[in-house]
Amino acid sequence: MGMRNNPWVFLSVVIFLCFSFNTDLCFGASTITANQSLSGDQTIVSDGGIFKLGFYNPGNSSNYYICMWYVQVSTLTVVWVANTQKPISNRYSSELKISNGNLVLLNESQIPIWSTNQTSITSNSVVAVLLDNGNLVLRESPISTQPIWQSFDHPVHTWLPGSKIAYNKITNTQQQLTSWKNIEDPSPGPYAMHLDANNSQYLIMWNGSERYWTSGPWNGQIFSLVPEMRANYIFNFSYVDNENESYFTYSLYNPAIISRFLMDVSGQVKMLTWLEGTKEWNLFWAQPRQQCEVYAYCGAFGTCNENTLPFCNCLQGFHESNVSDWNLSDYSAGCVRNTPLQQCGNTSVVNGQRDRFWEYSNMRLPEYPQSLSVGSNVECESACLNNCSCTAYAYGSDGCSIWTVNLLNLQQLSGNDGSGKTLYLRLAASEFPVAKNNKGAIIGPVAGSVGGVLLLGLVFAFVWKWQRRFVAKTKAVEGSLVAFAYKDLQNATKNFSEKLGGGGFGSVFKGTLPNSSVIAVKKLESISQGEKQFRTEVSTIGTIQHVNLVRLRGFCSEGSKRLLVYDYMQNSSLDAHLFNEKESKIFDWQTRYQIALGTARGLAYLHEKCRDCIIHCDIKPENILLDAEFCPKVADFGLAKLMGREFSRVLTTMRGTRGYLAPEWISGVAITAKADVYSYGMMLFELVSGRRNSEQSQDGKVRFFPTWAASVVIEGGDILDLLDPKLGRNADSEELKKICRVAAWCIQDNENHRPTMGQIVQILEGVLDVNPPPIPRSLQAFVDNQEHIVFFTESDESSQALSNPSSSDQSKSTTSTMRS
Ligand SMILES: *[C@@H]1O[C@H](CO)[C@@H](O)[C@H](O)[C@H]1NC(C)=O
Ligand SMILES: *[C@@H]1O[C@H](CO)[C@@H](O)[C@H](O)[C@H]1NC(C)=O
Ligand SMILES: *[C@@H]1O[C@H](CO)[C@@H](O)[C@H](O)[C@H]1NC(C)=O
Ligand SMILES: *[C@@H]1O[C@H](CO)[C@@H](O)[C@H](O)[C@H]1NC(C)=O
Ligand SMILES: *[C@@H]1O[C@H](CO)[C@@H](O)[C@H](O)[C@H]1NC(C)=O
Ligand SMILES: *[C@@H]1O[C@H](CO)[C@@H](O)[C@H](O)[C@H]1NC(C)=O
Ligand SMILES: *[C@@H]1O[C@H](CO)[C@@H](O)[C@H](O)[C@H]1NC(C)=O
Ligand SMILES: *[C@@H]1O[C@H](CO)[C@@H](O)[C@H](O)[C@H]1NC(C)=O
Ligand SMILES: *[C@@H]1O[C@H](CO)[C@@H](O)[C@H](O)[C@H]1NC(C)=O
Ligand SMILES: *[C@@H]1O[C@H](CO)[C@@H](O)[C@H](O)[C@H]1NC(C)=O
Ligand SMILES: *[C@@H]1O[C@H](CO)[C@@H](O)[C@H](O)[C@H]1NC(C)=O
Ligand SMILES: *[C@@H]1O[C@H](CO)[C@@H](O)[C@H](O)[C@H]1NC(C)=O
Repeated sequence: MGMRNNPWVFLSVVIFLCFSFNTDLCFGASTITANQSLSGDQTIVSDGGIFKLGFYNPGNSSNYYICMWYVQVSTLTVVWVANTQKPISNRYSSELKISNGNLVLLNESQIPIWSTNQTSITSNSVVAVLLDNGNLVLRESPISTQPIWQSFDHPVHTWLPGSKIAYNKITNTQQQLTSWKNIEDPSPGPYAMHLDANNSQYLIMWNGSERYWTSGPWNGQIFSLVPEMRANYIFNFSYVDNENESYFTYSLYNPAIISRFLMDVSGQVKMLTWLEGTKEWNLFWAQPRQQCEVYAYCGAFGTCNENTLPFCNCLQGFHESNVSDWNLSDYSAGCVRNTPLQQCGNTSVVNGQRDRFWEYSNMRLPEYPQSLSVGSNVECESACLNNCSCTAYAYGSDGCSIWTVNLLNLQQLSGNDGSGKTLYLRLAASEFPVAKNNKGAIIGPVAGSVGGVLLLGLVFAFVWKWQRRFVAKTKAVEGSLVAFAYKDLQNATKNFSEKLGGGGFGSVFKGTLPNSSVIAVKKLESISQGEKQFRTEVSTIGTIQHVNLVRLRGFCSEGSKRLLVYDYMQNSSLDAHLFNEKESKIFDWQTRYQIALGTARGLAYLHEKCRDCIIHCDIKPENILLDAEFCPKVADFGLAKLMGREFSRVLTTMRGTRGYLAPEWISGVAITAKADVYSYGMMLFELVSGRRNSEQSQDGKVRFFPTWAASVVIEGGDILDLLDPKLGRNADSEELKKICRVAAWCIQDNENHRPTMGQIVQILEGVLDVNPPPIPRSLQAFVDNQEHIVFFTESDESSQALSNPSSSDQSKSTTSTMRS
């Protein structure tokens, strides 16, 4: 058993290292007494060597703050700050000390700029102690237990396990978690989260006024709009409501896991877990899931786009109001106009040019529109032009709207679900490019039929040349892959006009090659890799070919553009058929079974058969494509490595994906192929029920299908009850039972208990039998069940390892795909 399976080994190694090399630091000073003070590089460290407190300048700032951070986390991560709004610049002549029963920070001129402000006790035996849970407490004496002040009552942006964000009913005051202004300035930013005690729910507000996210009320077990809390095996949640206060708190069942809850400068709340293996904070959960759902994230006249990095851009004719703020990921100040509007407060109309309108299509419109009752687009436009303070207008099915204030909360949409509107932005005429004098338009009619013939010739020449380019390019293939030129893909997709779908990695477009084969082109967004590494990764993916995997035909890498070219799949993806009520063709049981089997074969090939083993990391119905014969093909494999560190962001911000993520994504251990097995199991349940596993019903309750299914499978209820009602109980109940059992084995908490994809293939093929599974721990409240049952009856020599959970260690060598 390796260290990763035993946090205690790890912890004791850390303690041992501390003990042997740095005794003073780890055990000498967790306390500031009346005789001591902290200055310069000095720090205090909690007794167990978990947290450290001292002067620190976040980012590249020259401002110093009293900060608390993790000792064990190599990327210095601040969890608490004392003097958030009053930095000091010279830490050697500043001092943190006990004075009159308070902990006080004196600046360079020995003037107190921060104090714990407790007034009741002025004894000089008061001490400040840094505890292992990250709480800095002030005690009347070194032996007293009740704190007279504690940092847990004054959180900044981090909510540590064991602390609480409470509403105090006696004083009617609330604690809140406040975002930093930017990544190096801990003074309060625009976003804050607090408890709405009346409805026992948490809210995130912008500027103390605009609410843009709520957790939904506490229902006794979870917050109703956070169904992820049901998968409750890492955190111990509780909600307390008594006569003095209301609060929610959480702790970790395994104290060796380093996890924190953050109100980020992005305006999102995030749950992060430290992965020692990759030395990175792994994003486990974030809300709002989409960055652009954060209210006014890009400030006035900024526009948010989920498919660009950074997410914020200034509108045409505007520039960043403060570039250094934007460089520090603080977009809240927004953008300012390059050229003042000509017609406003300015009678001298320059060159007689009126202001004009820049058209933005497919937008989420800004906040605070004003409706005007005019009947046409032209009238709406002139109404805006005639009002000096009008900055934009929109005209659509709900009439004419104008904006006379700063444009806030704009978003460039990329989907084509019809929710996008067109906005006309008012700009000075000089912001528009000078129209080209197009001679071609004049010559055209004169040239007449001669021109027509010429044109035809040109077209032929062009097509011929284009074809030749393809031939030429084919020479530059890497393995069997074609390296496409961007222009060619642009032509093939008619300038990316027919969108097939969008995902966290980018949008997919339909295209046709000159040889009339149909392709799907994926435009990768925000890829962090250089050209060479990209080509290496892509050629690896290109060598992987299997009937149940979508074939990569080629790629394009030009400048910052990265595209992948795949075979086109006529019948789109599994989710479209499973969850779409309108879908006329309902998959019968046989089709579903074949899809389950085919998908398992594809994954087994990825995991076990190809040279460089690949963990997919994002198995879900959206990534199972269906060809003309409804044969399943796994898509998007290999992208985890291609996307590098962007991957975990993409993974967690994508809607819906969370329900498929295995627990080890959070618990800080390495990701193996068994993470795919977990996601595959979750997907099997959806294949059975024809619905998303986790659904909120009309009454606000969250239904979690796997919990019910597992109980039916294990306790022996009527298995056909689980079947998609659309099938009217038409299924082979033996097969159904088999699939449900496999699914329940797949989502076992302990990855060693999950079967491999190869074994799943054998089970579905009928070569191996499958025993009833134990209840997956993740579906129940935490019970430390150590029992383990042999879950396959042997019929194959190679499955011997199955009955011995600890021997599947060879699967661990497959983690390399996630390490980049
Ligand atoms: C402070 O120092 C004085 C003299 O050095 C000593 O007598 C006293 O016990 C110390 N007090 C504390 C709280 O350590
Ligand atoms: C600090 O500045 C250096 C060099 O300018 C840069 O590489 C680094 O990313 C910056 N660090 C932070 C946290 O901004
Ligand atoms: C210390 O703080 C006081 C009060 O805020 C201020 O007037 C003084 O300039 C500060 N000293 C330095 C060196 O910044
Ligand atoms: C302490 O009280 C002073 C004066 O009332 C106030 O300015 C300061 O913000 C308070 N400090 C803290 C940490 O609450
Ligand atoms: C809770 O309800 C009371 C009475 O309806 C109201 O006065 C108070 O402002 C509410 N508190 C919050 C935090 O909304
Ligand atoms: C923030 O809210 C205050 C009042 O609550 C308001 O005066 C101010 O203009 C708001 N800030 C922005 C940027 O809208
Ligand atoms: C969960 O938390 C509650 C309250 O914080 C505590 O009483 C209980 O012992 C914890 N349970 C476990 C298993 O740690
Ligand atoms: C509420 O506060 C009072 C006074 O501090 C205390 O006696 C009582 O025990 C508290 N109640 C709870 C449930 O903590
Ligand atoms: C902002 O960042 C860009 C690119 O990193 C840099 O060139 C520019 O100098 C920065 N501007 C400010 C004001 O920090
Ligand atoms: C821009 O932002 C930086 C950092 O927040 C600030 O120090 C500076 O004063 C701002 N500049 C202007 C012109 O507002
Ligand atoms: C009017 O427009 C002219 C030309 O752009 C500009 O120079 C002048 O400052 C403007 N006057 C006002 C009051 O905005
Ligand atoms: C412009 O529109 C605003 C808001 O409707 C209105 O208050 C203002 O009077 C209008 N100005 C003119 C000159 O019409």
